[in-house]
Amino acid sequence: MFQSKIAGIGHYVPKNVYTNNDLTRFMDTTDEWIQERTGIKERRYADRLEETTTSMAIEAAKIAIERAKTTAKDIDFIIFATLSPDYYFPGCGVLLQREMGMGEIGALDIRNQCSGFVYALSIADQFIKTGMYKNILVVGSEKHSFALDFSTRGRAVSVIFGDGAGAAVLQPTTETGKGILSTHLHSDGADAEKLAMYYPGASGGKGLENRPEWPDQELGGMFVTPKMLEDGSAFPYMDGQAVFKKAVVKFPEVIGEALAKNELTPADIDLLVPHQANLRISQFVQKTLGLADDKVFNNIQKYGNTTAASVPIALSEAWEEGRIKEGDLVCLAAFGAGFTWGSALIRW
Ligand code: ACO
Repeated sequence: MFQSKIAGIGHYVPKNVYTNNDLTRFMDTTDEWIQERTGIKERRYADRLEETTTSMAIEAAKIAIERAKTTAKDIDFIIFATLSPDYYFPGCGVLLQREMGMGEIGALDIRNQCSGFVYALSIADQFIKTGMYKNILVVGSEKHSFALDFSTRGRAVSVIFGDGAGAAVLQPTTETGKGILSTHLHSDGADAEKLAMYYPGASGGKGLENRPEWPDQELGGMFVTPKMLEDGSAFPYMDGQAVFKKAVVKFPEVIGEALAKNELTPADIDLLVPHQANLRISQFVQKTLGLADDKVFNNIQKYGNTTAASVPIALSEAWEEGRIKEGDLVCLAAFGAGFTWGSALIRW
């Protein structure tokens, strides 16, 4: 049985920087409010027409593939995590396969929001362990800016999110004790509607407080209506306090689970790379685990929350800055909509 290792990692963020002050041109907000609540100073937004979730993923993938000393032609499976796909269907996996000139390999799209990259890594790990694939490209990419409400009505959500992409190539290793030691995935749908984008969707608003009025016709017409854009129900919804409360419990819990499984303790962690949900959440987790400042990597200040892209962007940036060395114990952890959460422990 093989172990899998991250052979290469890369990331891409768009050029357009929007500071908190820039957002005051669109909504009633302040730099002070945003920094105090989230730690975010600025974020990147993709070019409205020239950049897509797939195109950003490709830029990140090219770097990861080069660093893994392989080629796009040698990739034998794709796992693409995003909540902001280019099309409702098909998913971004096949678009990436086409644009990168890869062979007719399998392309799996997954929708686990902020936990997307950790879920994707876990799936890739299983495929490598069984020997089914040898060169898996795992990507997380988001173009949030196309679907946020940049008016004052949407400010509690919009200021948090940014665009970007991260990618990793997983390969087998025979070095004992190296690579991905274990992954741990969880979900609890009890609060599925507390962080969600309901439309377009097939529920018709069933079970939701503000069920929309649909056109009076026998079939169809229930995808998205102009009224939804007017009343804001077409935009993402977040109960921020519910997210905060659950995240600060589940992050330490799932990190503890990974450590226990490997008979390790928080003191053994060389670098924790948490999903960049909110700086306050990361600081809470750091305190709970008793980790020193240099053991936790945060870059939400520069990029905001990039959902499925946040863990690979942070991991790639940490690696580029020399914060991850051979033999280090790296812990990835994520929590997000669903709710879903997960962790991965890696001996680099
Ligand atoms: N600028 C200025 N004022 C704002 C803004 C803004 N961008 N957004 C909301 N406000 C106002 C509200 O309208 C409200 O005003 P009111 O008191 O007059 O009604 C006031 O600020 C307080 O609003 P709350 O929503 O109660 O603010 P809270 O202190 O809960 O902070 C926040 C909101 C930052 C979202 C917080 O709940 C939080 O950090 N939650 C965690 C959610 C999170 O981090 N999500 C990340 C994405 S999900 C994930 O990755 C897991």
